[in-house]
Amino acid sequence: MTSAIHTTDIMEGAAKLRVLVVDDEEFLRSIVRERLEIAGYSVEEASNGNEALSMLESGGPYDVLLTDIRMPVMDGIALLGELGKRFPGTAGIVMSAYSELDTAVHALKMGACDYITKPFNFDVLLITIENALRKKELERQLDDYRTNLEEKVKEQTDIINSMYVRSIDAMIKALEAKDYYTRGHSQRVTLYSMAIAKELGITGQEMEDLHRASVLHDLGKIGVREAVLNKPGKLTEEEFAEIVRHPETAVRILEPIPFFRPLLPAILHHHERFDGKGYPARLVGKTIPVASRIMAIADTFDAMTSTRAYRKALPVADAINEIRRCSGTQFDPDIVPAFLACQSKIVIPGDVSLPEGFEEAIPAEYRPQPG
Ligand SMILES: [Fe+2]
Repeated sequence: MTSAIHTTDIMEGAAKLRVLVVDDEEFLRSIVRERLEIAGYSVEEASNGNEALSMLESGGPYDVLLTDIRMPVMDGIALLGELGKRFPGTAGIVMSAYSELDTAVHALKMGACDYITKPFNFDVLLITIENALRKKELERQLDDYRTNLEEKVKEQTDIINSMYVRSIDAMIKALEAKDYYTRGHSQRVTLYSMAIAKELGITGQEMEDLHRASVLHDLGKIGVREAVLNKPGKLTEEEFAEIVRHPETAVRILEPIPFFRPLLPAILHHHERFDGKGYPARLVGKTIPVASRIMAIADTFDAMTSTRAYRKALPVADAINEIRRCSGTQFDPDIVPAFLACQSKIVIPGDVSLPEGFEEAIPAEYRPQPG
């Protein structure tokens, strides 16, 4: 009685549920087919696992696969293995003889929804099918729930991350307001870093991380006193020590936020020198993160070509010569050529002002040829 109600529930308003009966005994297949069709199912037959697999491939999807275990060509266990891997939406049910009970248990472990022992009562078969269908439906609902949950979590994470980005952006603006001379600095350093990285063939996530790290590289200067940042004269030892701490301060600010963690090594080491005389860790050569080695050139070039409290801007050509001169000591000699080659390819957004003489200073060999 219960089974009839369930069958009606499941089938109501929908196309007939499809059952594939797989057994090498034609008589058994036809009797199962007859009973299931009376119960309202659409039934098809296969005589072995291989034939069933072809039907699943070309004629699916089926809602239920009702399979014998011992069959020629491909047995029921192998068929269930393929079903689980390739057709997870189909409920597999094993029809086994008493003597094959161990194998039926094995089939359950391989993902079959249920088993029924031969010879069987057809009411029991119907109940078994309905239960298997319900189980599959619950699995599907659970999958949908998980997918929705993942989407919701991703949505929320994106919102949280964009809030972090906005608040960090506000901190950068606050820094630039307090340090008049670095206004536009992080924008230009980002522009130069991206151009160098492109020349080096860097792409994807590495490029994205370099972009973020360049924007944030001097964030730690927010912890340096305004009087020190804008001091026109020579810095005292204590004041210099305050400046030197800015990469570590940036790391302390950003560290609690998982979203920024991949950027921390690049930011922490942007003042290291290739010869090991930089700070804070005195890293040498290629042990310095590649993003830091790129930013070091971009950062120094922008510092030299910007007017600071303590000196006027250097002409761009002189700054380029200085980068070239320091290749192998302050800067990675494998990255300096990329910097020299990329200047002609820097695309300047409207809101970034480049130093005077930037375009004229492009080395002749890299200047775009007329025509
Ligand atoms: Fe810096």
